[in-house]
Amino acid sequence: MKYLILVLLLLTISIHFVNSKDCPRCLDIDDECNINDTTVTCPKGSFCSPISQTCKISVPENGNCTVDLECENTLGCINSTCIQTHYLGMIELCTHDSECTTPTLCKPYSCGQTCNKACNYFELTCTTNGQCQFPMVCTSGKCNTAKNDGESCKISSECQPYSTCSENICQSPYSMDLGENCTSDYSCDISKNLICSSNGTCIKDLNQTSHCGSLDPSVKKSIFCQLEKCRILNECQVVDHMAKKSCIYQSCGELVDKLNGLNDTCNATPSNSNSQSVTYVHSLLVLSLFLFISLII
Ligand SMILES: *[C@@H]1O[C@H](CO)[C@@H](O)[C@H](O)[C@H]1NC(C)=O
Ligand SMILES: *[C@@H]1O[C@H](CO)[C@@H](O)[C@H](O)[C@H]1NC(C)=O
Ligand SMILES: *[C@@H]1O[C@H](CO)[C@@H](O)[C@H](O)[C@H]1NC(C)=O
Ligand SMILES: *[C@@H]1O[C@H](CO)[C@@H](O)[C@H](O)[C@H]1NC(C)=O
Ligand SMILES: *[C@@H]1O[C@H](CO)[C@@H](O)[C@H](O)[C@H]1NC(C)=O
Ligand SMILES: *[C@@H]1O[C@H](CO)[C@@H](O)[C@H](O)[C@H]1NC(C)=O
Ligand SMILES: *[C@@H]1O[C@H](CO)[C@@H](O)[C@H](O)[C@H]1NC(C)=O
Repeated sequence: MKYLILVLLLLTISIHFVNSKDCPRCLDIDDECNINDTTVTCPKGSFCSPISQTCKISVPENGNCTVDLECENTLGCINSTCIQTHYLGMIELCTHDSECTTPTLCKPYSCGQTCNKACNYFELTCTTNGQCQFPMVCTSGKCNTAKNDGESCKISSECQPYSTCSENICQSPYSMDLGENCTSDYSCDISKNLICSSNGTCIKDLNQTSHCGSLDPSVKKSIFCQLEKCRILNECQVVDHMAKKSCIYQSCGELVDKLNGLNDTCNATPSNSNSQSVTYVHSLLVLSLFLFISLII
């Protein structure tokens, strides 16, 4: 009997230990933190200051800063001020390099009587979608018009940026099932707790860490797919930062806000399978307690 209890208790403790390792623990403002410690995280709207090694509230737009890390959301620290950065796509009019999606730069463009400047890229071959103008994407080093979901394809890079080519058809983001091929983190169905393994097949996410920053993976999937439809409809290129002045935010801001709102590790609730294992732990605890008490009596 004693052995049984011991085994049950050990099992309970080990399961609980594995479970608690899933997502980082959330700190409060002014709590001690360490950038290298992935088991803890500062709350949304704050950052881990390398100077004080505590969680500090992020600097809003136009606030003073010394490094990008201090600025809110996707703002960057330029000229000691937090401003919107890297939010323009190829051939969008610009005034500074810092506005252009990397690796494009703000260069003279369509010079007539006056000279405009636009984000541009001067190599003959591309490596990222950001080097191609909407509606093009980078396919094997060349900008080609992206194929929409449902159209025929040979490789995923012919499809829209977050879509996957499977069975020679472009498939929408997060739609590949267990055991099916994947090419990126956007391939596999997160609502079924799937991630893309290193060998290119969708597998169960046993660690559950991919869901830490998201309240509900099926909501995230739905909003992300709506945002992609909205982006394509409004002819916006994929950019580094969906900042307020970006085409995608100007056209689909509500969806961008919703997606960002989901990205709060500190308000995340466990996903379905996670809560099942929590329930399992609880029933084991209750069972061991019951056995323990009955042994004493
Ligand atoms: C984090 O790790 C890097 C590289 O290992 C090291 O240089 C740095 O000092 C560490 N920072 C802290 C705050 O521990
Ligand atoms: C930013 O810095 C300037 C001087 O560099 C100072 O005058 C100003 O008050 C600071 N603003 C904030 C919000 O701290
Ligand atoms: C940063 O400051 C320099 C020098 O004052 C100026 O030329 C440049 O336009 C500023 N950059 C931005 C993004 O405002
Ligand atoms: C999945 O990938 C393998 C190997 O790359 C390929 O042979 C197969 O045709 C792919 N399956 C689908 C459904 O695209
Ligand atoms: C990829 O790895 C998983 C296990 O991680 C395995 O089940 C699957 O068969 C592998 N697929 C290929 C195409 O090698
Ligand atoms: C789980 O996490 C460990 C260490 O973080 C990693 O090595 C392993 O590949 C992960 N497994 C899955 C299925 O994600
Ligand atoms: C959510 O957070 C992750 C990691 O912090 C980041 O890589 C991702 O871009 C964020 N997503 C959105 C929509 O902000």
